[in-house]
Amino acid sequence: MKNKNIKQIKVWDLPIRIFHWALLVLILAALLSGFFAPEWWLNYHIWIGYVIIGLVIFRLIWGFFGSSYSRFVSFIFSPKILLEHIKGINSNQPIYFLGHNPLGALMVFALLFVISAIIISGLINLGGIENQGPFAFLIDYATGFIAGKWHIFLAYLLIIMIFLHILGVIFESKISRISLVRAMINGKKPNLANLDNKIAIGLIKPQILPTISIMAIFAIIFIGGYFLLSRQAPSGFILMEVNEDFQSECADCHELYSPSLLPASSWEKMMNELDNHFGEDASLDIETTKNIAAYLRKYSAENWDSEASNNFMIVDNKAPYKISETPFWKERHKNIDENLFKTKPVKGKGNCSACHADAELGYFHDKNIKFRNKPVK
Ligand code: HEC
Ligand code: HEC
Repeated sequence: MKNKNIKQIKVWDLPIRIFHWALLVLILAALLSGFFAPEWWLNYHIWIGYVIIGLVIFRLIWGFFGSSYSRFVSFIFSPKILLEHIKGINSNQPIYFLGHNPLGALMVFALLFVISAIIISGLINLGGIENQGPFAFLIDYATGFIAGKWHIFLAYLLIIMIFLHILGVIFESKISRISLVRAMINGKKPNLANLDNKIAIGLIKPQILPTISIMAIFAIIFIGGYFLLSRQAPSGFILMEVNEDFQSECADCHELYSPSLLPASSWEKMMNELDNHFGEDASLDIETTKNIAAYLRKYSAENWDSEASNNFMIVDNKAPYKISETPFWKERHKNIDENLFKTKPVKGKGNCSACHADAELGYFHDKNIKFRNKPVK
C-alpha cells in the first residue's frame, strides 16, 4: 500500500509508545535476571519488577484516560467482530483496524493479565521464601514456595505469549502490508478507506490531569504501603533472646550458628556427643549443656520459617549435625571452587559469615551474599 494519497494518521500516542518499548526492555531484563543472573542479583530483579508495576498501573489508567486508541473501549470487540476478523484473515481479505485488531486486543489483555499475575506471585514468593518485601510479614515459606512455582510457570507462559504476539505482528504486517512495528515507533498508520468509522481518529483527547492525579495517588499508596509493610517483622522469625551460655561456649572455635539452621533432633544428638565434637572435646558441665540444649531446641529449624531453616531440616544421616553436609547446602554451594573454602578469608565451609553477612541472624538473604569467587592471596 505505497499509495501516497492515503493519509498517515496518528494512532498511537507518545505515552503508549514509550510504555510499549519500556515494557519490552524491562520484561527482557526481568526474564534475563530471573533465569540467568546469580542469586545475589535478586535485588535488581526485584527493582525491575517494581518499575514494571508502575508501568502496568500507568497502562491501566491510560486505558481509561488516554487518547482514542489507547482506551480499552476502543479495543473491546464483540465475538461477532472477532469472528469476522478471523474469517477475513482466512479469506485473505482482512478487515483493517486502525487501532488494535480483535486478536491483537485479546493478546494485549492477556499480556497485562499474565504480567500482573507474575508480579503478584513474585511478591508472594519474595515474602514467603526470602522474607523480604511488603508481604514478608504475612506469607509463610510453604505459600511462598508454591507462589514461586507459579512465578516460573507464568514466566514461561509469558515467553510463549511474547512469541505469539511477535508472530501476530509479523503476520498482520504482512497481510495488511503495513508495518505495525513502525507504527508503534512513529505512532502513525495509513487511514485506509475501509476504516471502521465507529472509532474515528482523534475524537478523544487524552486527559492528562486525571492520569497524573491517579498515578500520584497510586504512587503514594504503593510507596507508603511498601515502607509500612516491609518494616514489619517477617512472619515466622521469632526474636531470639540472648543465651549467654550459648554465646560464650559455642563461639570459641567457630562462629555462632543460628539454632534455626538444624532440626531439634540434630541439636539433641550434638549436645549428647559434645565430648567428640568433630574430633574436639567441647564437653560442658551438665547444667550448661542442658541450658544450651533447651535454647537450641526452642529456636530449632522446626520453629523458624526462613528459607535456610526449611531446607536444612533435611540432614545427611551420616553427619546429622553438620550443616555443610546437608543436601540443600551442598546443592547451593556446588558451583563454588573447593579451593575457596580452604583459603583466606573463608577458611572452611563452616565459616558461613565469610560469605553471608547476615549468617549469625540465620537470615541468609540473597542480597547479603558477599561472595567473590576468588581466594584472597
Ligand atoms: C573446642 C572447639 C569447639 C567448640 C567449643 C564448639 N565447636 Fe562446633 N565445631 C568445632 C569443629 C572443629 C567443627 C568442625 C569444623 C569443620 O569440620 O570444618 C565444628 C562444627 C560445628 C558445626 C557444623 C558446622 C558445619 O560446617 O556444618 C556445628 C553446627 C557446631 N559446630 C555447633 C557447635 C555448638 C552449638 C557449640 C556449642 C555447644 C559448639 N559447636 C562448640 C569445634 C568446636
Ligand atoms: C565461600 C563462600 C560461602 C560460604 C563459606 C558459605 N556460603 Fe552459603 N552461599 C554462598 C553463595 C555464593 C550462595 C549462592 C549460591 C547460588 O545459589 O548461586 C550461597 C547460598 C546459600 C544459601 C541459600 C540462600 C538463598 O537465599 O538461596 C544458604 C541458606 C546458605 N548459603 C547457607 C550457608 C551456611 C549455613 C553456611 C555455613 C555453614 C554457608 N552458606 C557458607 C557462599 C558461601
